[in-house]
Amino acid sequence: MFKKVDLVIIGGGPAGYEAAFKAADGGMKAIIIEKEAIGGTCLNHGCIPTKTIMHSTELYKKLETIDEFGIALEKKSINFEVIQNRKEEILEKLRNGILSRIRKSDIEVVLGEGKIVSNNLVRVGDETIETKFILIATGTGTLLPPIKGCDLDGVITSDELLEYNKKPFGALTIIGGGVIGMEFANMFSDVGTSITVIEALDRILPNMDKELGQSLKMILKKRGVDIHTSSFVEEIIKSNEGLSCKYKEKGKEAVVTSDAVLIAVGRKPNINNLYAADVELEIEKGCIKVNDNYQTNYPNIYAVGDVIGGIQLAHVASAEGKNAVYHMLGKEDRIDVNVIPSCIYTNPEIASVGITADDAKRENIKIIANKFPMLANGKTILSGMDRGYIKIIADEKSHKILGAQMMCGRATDLISELTVAIANELTLEDLKKVIHPHPTFSEGIGDALN
Ligand code: NAI
Repeated sequence: MFKKVDLVIIGGGPAGYEAAFKAADGGMKAIIIEKEAIGGTCLNHGCIPTKTIMHSTELYKKLETIDEFGIALEKKSINFEVIQNRKEEILEKLRNGILSRIRKSDIEVVLGEGKIVSNNLVRVGDETIETKFILIATGTGTLLPPIKGCDLDGVITSDELLEYNKKPFGALTIIGGGVIGMEFANMFSDVGTSITVIEALDRILPNMDKELGQSLKMILKKRGVDIHTSSFVEEIIKSNEGLSCKYKEKGKEAVVTSDAVLIAVGRKPNINNLYAADVELEIEKGCIKVNDNYQTNYPNIYAVGDVIGGIQLAHVASAEGKNAVYHMLGKEDRIDVNVIPSCIYTNPEIASVGITADDAKRENIKIIANKFPMLANGKTILSGMDRGYIKIIADEKSHKILGAQMMCGRATDLISELTVAIANELTLEDLKKVIHPHPTFSEGIGDALN
C-alpha cells in the first residue's frame, strides 16, 4: 500500500501527539506511527502511572498520623492489585482523551514500528508512506548498566515496578539516586519497605540544586531510607536471603541484601531499527543530533523529545514537538525552551526553574538569593507537612528573577508562577505587586520575595 502525506511522526508520546495537533491546526495531513500505545512513556510507563501509584502510597503513609487530624481508623492495609486496576482505568481514560482529539483533528494513527527508508519515505508493516517531513519522537527505553547480575530474576526497572501488584517488598535496593530512584524510594518507603539507595556520585539528585538533594536526603533518612553516595555497585548475586548488591563506598567494600533491586541509572534513546542502513542520520552520544530548529542532518527530518537527549521531560518534549512543526510551517511562534520547570514528586514535592546559586557563582553572575522557610507558612503547618523552603534567585542589579528552587507542598504547581516571571523577565518588584491568596502554599513565594 502507498500513501502520501505532509508529515509522518514516528512515536505517539507527548512530543509526537502534540506535534500532530499543531500540524493539523496548520493544515498539514499528519500520520502518527506508534508501536505500542498512544501516550508514550509518560502516559504508559512514566509520569502518569508513577504519580497515580504515589497518590495511593502517600495517602497510606498519611494514615500513620491520621489521629492527629482527629480521625480514628481501626485497620489500615494496602492492596497493590486495586491500585493497579485504578491505574489502568486512569491510563485508559487519558489515552481515550488523546485518541478522541486525534480523531477530531483528522490525524491518522498507524499501529506498528516505523522505519525511515529514505528522507521522504517511511515504512510500517507492508505500508510505505511518502511524506514531505518526518518527525522522530521515539523517546527512550530503560537502560541496564554493565553490572554483573543485572539479568537476574528480581532485578527490575521502573517499567516492571509500575506493574507491581503484590504485597509490598520487605526490602528494596535502588541503584541510582536520580529522579526515578528518589520517586520510587519515596513510594515504597511510604508502604513500609526498607529502602537502600546506592548512588555513584557524591549526592542524590545530582542535576538539581545541591540544597534540594541534601534536604531530601535528610527527610528520607528520618523515614528510615538508607542512602549511600559515592558508591558503585560492582555485582549483584542471588543468595538464599535474596539479592545481594556488592558495592564499593568511598573505596570500602560493602554489601546490601534485599528482595528486589531497582535499576534507575538513566534511560537510553530508542533508535534501534529506526532507519535503513543507507540513511545516514547523525548520532551523538547515542542521541539523534539536531540543530536549534530540531532538524537532523537531513533538513526535512526533524527529531524532538527524549531521543535527542538534553532535558528528558514530557513537557519539554511537547514544547519541542510544537516548535519543530512551527518551523516546518514557516511560522515565527516558538515556545521558550530556555526556561524549563523540573518537578520531582517526592513528599514534600520538589521543583526548580532557571539558575541556582551555584550556577550563578560558576557564571560570575552577582545575585540576591532569598529563602523562605515553609515552617513559617500557615498552610504547611495546618497540613502537617515536613520542613521545606522556597528560594528565589534574582540579579543583584536589575532584580530580574533568574531562578527558583522549592521543596514544599504543591511545589510542582507553584513553580509555574516563577516560570512565567523568568520567561517574561519580571523583577522581584513586579512579583511583589501580586496578592497571594491566604492561606496557601503560594504565600511562601510572596514571603520569599522580601
Ligand atoms: P537520572 O539521570 O535522573 O539519574 C540516574 C542516577 O543514577 C544518576 O544520579 C547517576 O549518577 C546514577 N548512576 C548511574 N550509573 C550508576 C551506577 N552504576 N551505580 C550507581 N548510580 C549510578 O535518571 P533516572 O532517574 O533513571 O531518570 C531518567 C529520566 O527520566 C531523567 O531524565 C529524568 O529527568 C526523567 N524523569 C523525570 C521525572 C519527573 O519529571 N518527575 C520522573 C522520572 C523520570
